[in-house]
Amino acid sequence: MSQAYDLVVIGGGPGGYVCAIRAAQLGLRTACVESRGTLGGTCLNVGCIPSKALLHSSHHYDSAKSDLAAHGITAEVSLDLATMLGRKDKVVDDLTKGIEFLFKKNKVDYIRGRGHLEAPGRVRVGETVLDAKAVVIATGSESAPLPGITVDEKRIVSSTGALSLPHVPTSLIVIGAGVIGLELGSVWRRLGAQVTVIEYLDHILPPLDGEVRKTMQRILKKQGLTFKLASKVTSAKASKTGVTLTVEPAQGGAVETLTADVVLVAVGRRPYTEGLGLEALGIVLERGFIKVDAHFATTVPGVYAIGDVIGGAMLAHKAEEEGVAMAEILAGQAGHVNYEAIPSVVYTHPEAAMAGRTEEQLQAAGVAYTVGKFPFTANSRARAMGETEGFVKILADKTTDRVLGVHIIGPQAGELIAEAALALEFSASAEDLARTCHAHPGLGEALKEAALAVAGRAIHS
Ligand code: NAI
Repeated sequence: MSQAYDLVVIGGGPGGYVCAIRAAQLGLRTACVESRGTLGGTCLNVGCIPSKALLHSSHHYDSAKSDLAAHGITAEVSLDLATMLGRKDKVVDDLTKGIEFLFKKNKVDYIRGRGHLEAPGRVRVGETVLDAKAVVIATGSESAPLPGITVDEKRIVSSTGALSLPHVPTSLIVIGAGVIGLELGSVWRRLGAQVTVIEYLDHILPPLDGEVRKTMQRILKKQGLTFKLASKVTSAKASKTGVTLTVEPAQGGAVETLTADVVLVAVGRRPYTEGLGLEALGIVLERGFIKVDAHFATTVPGVYAIGDVIGGAMLAHKAEEEGVAMAEILAGQAGHVNYEAIPSVVYTHPEAAMAGRTEEQLQAAGVAYTVGKFPFTANSRARAMGETEGFVKILADKTTDRVLGVHIIGPQAGELIAEAALALEFSASAEDLARTCHAHPGLGEALKEAALAVAGRAIHS
């Protein structure tokens, strides 16, 4: 059986499904091929969404145990993990069905199965052959393995297993102090596990601003996470009762043996291209990522790629932007992604968020900048909430005052960063932010004050 399309998208994650919907909106006859059984990709099924559901639930539990008394509320608190996990599964289930509904609404054909590129304009899914003027590969990424360590998703888990542990482990060792390690480490710490995070580098959260990283480490330590930095895990063996790990200093040295109930491997992700048939078609890869030009075209005409599989920030919203731009380019429009204005959020408590450049990046590029900083201790809303840890830092060009980077650690940083992304998108100056009226009392006032601080004229600090 053969069907003809303008566009076939392989992969139904945030890059692929958004690309398919936008293409259909623009009048292209579109199909999206997905093998998982549900749409939404890693993000919706085993990533962003279930982790945020658990972060939210575990925060309620932790805060009911530790913070409510200060508000004059006393409560007997106990954990029903099965209900917590069930709620998370329902959130995921409802959202994946929501995408199926959007496909129907926009007349995107949802083809279930694994897509294989037989030829540039031909995708095989089982017995079905889809002919298309353009094919977009949006197959995403998978957890990167650690040599010598076998993930069984029971004792030694990836982020997928860590989202569904049936019991709270007494002890959890997290390998990798990146976003996944700290978010999921936080979930299980709040639910009662002793959590140790082992990181190869001498600092946590590598891509973040140095000051934010240090503050985050201090806060997480206070919350009970233990850090073992500049260390590498050389082996991990699972048994019925737990996992035994050998760890040594990153630069070599005395070997130490650690044990834990459960080990989470969170050392990054790698592009997922298995079974697509790229090599046979001559599609060029670079370090495993599909090589594309500025319009997402691969080295083979008619075949394009977007999202995690082409590299860059492995973020759902970056893939979504690429999906929209891709569809618009295929429809003859001027699709474009502004990579300078992509926010990034770590959903710990407090959250950390950034948009634009870090001080380290600006220094390395030799760009002269001014810093405006404002602490949440001086923000009235943060005080009323009792969440005063952290700050907003704005970096502006020393000559033009243009906002170059915004770094936030503090309450709702992940929401506040939207204003920073907008400022970057509009090429705003720090003065533009400073002269914008912000509602009082609001956490957003900390951004306004940090922008005022760029010119040395913050009112409240
Ligand atoms: P990551 O790249 O953020 O962090 C991995 C960490 O593991 C790094 O700090 C690295 O130095 C360390 N590491 C690497 N090899 C090691 C070793 N052998 N021993 C000890 N440490 C080692 O990767 P992560 O956390 O796995 O996340 C994967 C991707 O998913 C990232 O690109 C991230 O941006 C994305 N993600 C985004 C989230 C968000 O936006 N909130 C949430 C979760 C994941």
